[in-house]
Amino acid sequence: MWDRFLRACRREPVDATPVWFMRQAGRYMAEYRKVRETHTLLDICRTPELALEVTLQPLRAFEVDAAILFADILLPLEPMGAPFEFAAGEGPVIHEPIRDRAAIDRLRLFEAEEGLPHVLQAIRLLRRELDGKTPLIGFAGAPFTLASYLIEGGKSSHFVRVKRFMYDEPEAFSALMHKLAEVVRRYLHAQIAAGAQAVQLFDSWVGCLSPRDYREYVLPHVRHILSSVATAGVPVIHFGTDTGTLLELQREAGGSVIGVDWRTPLEQAHARLGDGVALQGNLDPLLLFAPRALLQRRIDEVLAGAPRQGHIFNLGHGILPETNRDAVKFTAEHVHRVTAG
Ligand code: CP3
Repeated sequence: MWDRFLRACRREPVDATPVWFMRQAGRYMAEYRKVRETHTLLDICRTPELALEVTLQPLRAFEVDAAILFADILLPLEPMGAPFEFAAGEGPVIHEPIRDRAAIDRLRLFEAEEGLPHVLQAIRLLRRELDGKTPLIGFAGAPFTLASYLIEGGKSSHFVRVKRFMYDEPEAFSALMHKLAEVVRRYLHAQIAAGAQAVQLFDSWVGCLSPRDYREYVLPHVRHILSSVATAGVPVIHFGTDTGTLLELQREAGGSVIGVDWRTPLEQAHARLGDGVALQGNLDPLLLFAPRALLQRRIDEVLAGAPRQGHIFNLGHGILPETNRDAVKFTAEHVHRVTAG
């Protein structure tokens, strides 16, 4: 069943539980490292033929039920006027981090057809390749997660700068979140128009906030995006990590599928969120390093805790570069084997 991923997102019956992996294309695959020998990450993102190739690599290697466009959540920052690079070993580096209202006012709203045409072209190429075989997921970063990179200037462990800015200058912070939300809203609509059959909003770092602060500083902006994207008629996966205390608020903000990380058992997430949304998750990516028998047991436990209709098997966060690909292959096959029929 080529569309079991889309059917599960809509909480329809499936022949087997669909599975895909966040960061399913990446450094843990030799084929990917080979492409990276001659191209930077940004080269790949900016060259539709390379993005196509890398997106297809995990589909050739594993029984995955969805393709995720190869791109990065930070790509919209450059056309907004905040260029960055991926520095080896350091992750993203924003050249001029945003630290005041004037810098926020200088950020531009843009249309994806003008600012990120290569991403939309990659989606069109992928749809030609995958049509009727594997559904294609588009994605974007959520405003808080993007704001954290913009303000911190890169990765952060305690989010000191972004939270201080949020508390000290709530109006400027809100103006930034407004701009980011509008950029992301347009970008997701453009991806869907180009052919993305589902989209995922990555709010990877929002779990550093209390429910109180999430409701005040984040929820309205995420709702601005998701209430609009809902009208496009494709499934929307709303993902975050460390969101055990935020799941109900995330559901309130929108999305037809809620991503759950491994810190919250799926049965608990299901009991709290009810049958109105599908769930995606939630194996700890570190279990891919565990002895096979333990990995198998934990996969079985995830499946046992999942809703009968409306579960997409995934990790609770992305695959790590050191991961052994045999464990990834085993996981996809095992999920299909035990849930088929
Ligand atoms: O296969 C896929 O999932 C699609 C591709 C994808 C990438 N980034 C490519 C990438 C996706 C969905 C992302 C999303 C992304 N990017 C997120 C949200 C998901 C998450 O993990 O929480 C975030 C926070 C980013 C920002 C980002 N990009 C960071 C922090 C880094 C450096 C970390 C690292 O692993 O080095 C990146 C680089 C990046 N984006 C890589 C890949 C495959 C690393 C590989 C490389 O350098 O070649």
